[in-house]
Amino acid sequence: MAKGSYQVSAVPVTIFAHLLVIAVSTLVLVWLLYFRGGLAFKSQNKQKIFNVHPLLMVVGFLLPAGEAIMAYKSIPAKKEVQKLVHLVLHFIALACGIVGIYAVFKFHNEARVINMYTLHSWIGMSTICLFGIQWLLGFFSFWWPRAEQGTRAKYMPWHVFLGAVIFFMATVTAETGLVEKFLFLGLGKSQEALIVNFTGLLILLFAVSVGLTVVLPRSSY
Ligand code: HEM
Ligand code: HEM
Repeated sequence: MAKGSYQVSAVPVTIFAHLLVIAVSTLVLVWLLYFRGGLAFKSQNKQKIFNVHPLLMVVGFLLPAGEAIMAYKSIPAKKEVQKLVHLVLHFIALACGIVGIYAVFKFHNEARVINMYTLHSWIGMSTICLFGIQWLLGFFSFWWPRAEQGTRAKYMPWHVFLGAVIFFMATVTAETGLVEKFLFLGLGKSQEALIVNFTGLLILLFAVSVGLTVVLPRSSY
């Protein structure tokens, strides 16, 4: 092992992160289906429309985006295959993110609540816009029609840095969203409060793990 290296490979960290994906998805589903009355796109019970928002933002957007970033470390295949998985998972995340934000706007409009009045909504809207731009720039530079080699090499470190920044912005947004909902519901000390708070803790662990895989090498030679 080279002196000054991290001494570990990214692989065990990606496995830990996959387990967190399962745990967070389970917690979110239990929360929304068991404690919050379920999900709907059309309903007299407007809370069910709201519930689509956290589901799509966490299980549809944040977790797939993290998996997409880890694809270069977690998928034992050729670079082209990893790249395809990276771009497709990011696309799925983007699509879910847009529908998830549409759902909360729909909820606000039908429940006659004003839009975009919180820090959560501002960072969230910035995140999804930057995510869309990052995806387009990545697609046109690295997939089709592809930039020249020199341009690609100059853009790559910025793609990685800004990609990580946008992913952490998504994490911050999810955390603030959970806190906001906790307070709106006045959860206090309850079983449901534990579920919401553990979801937030595991999301934080997931984000740290994904960040770690970006700096770690594929194998620890
Ligand atoms: C990365 C993930 C997320 C993004 C990008 C995001 C984005 C947004 C945006 C843009 C709004 C404003 C909608 C409007 O004004 O009509 C909003 C509202 C809201 N979101 Fe999220 N959200 C995310 C995750 C979550 C999570 C996990 C929760 C937890 C329950 C949540 C709870 C809320 C609540 C309660 C509102 C309504 C109050 C407000 O506008 O702040 N969000 N979100
Ligand atoms: C919002 C969407 C995107 C985000 C947040 C993002 C983020 C990232 C991050 C954090 C890395 C570093 C991964 C690592 O080294 O472990 C990365 C690498 C990379 N991404 Fe993206 N990316 C996005 C979209 C795209 C798209 C659409 C393409 C098109 C093919 C692409 C192509 C690449 C390539 C070629 C690498 C370099 C992998 C390597 O050589 O190690 N990205 N991306």
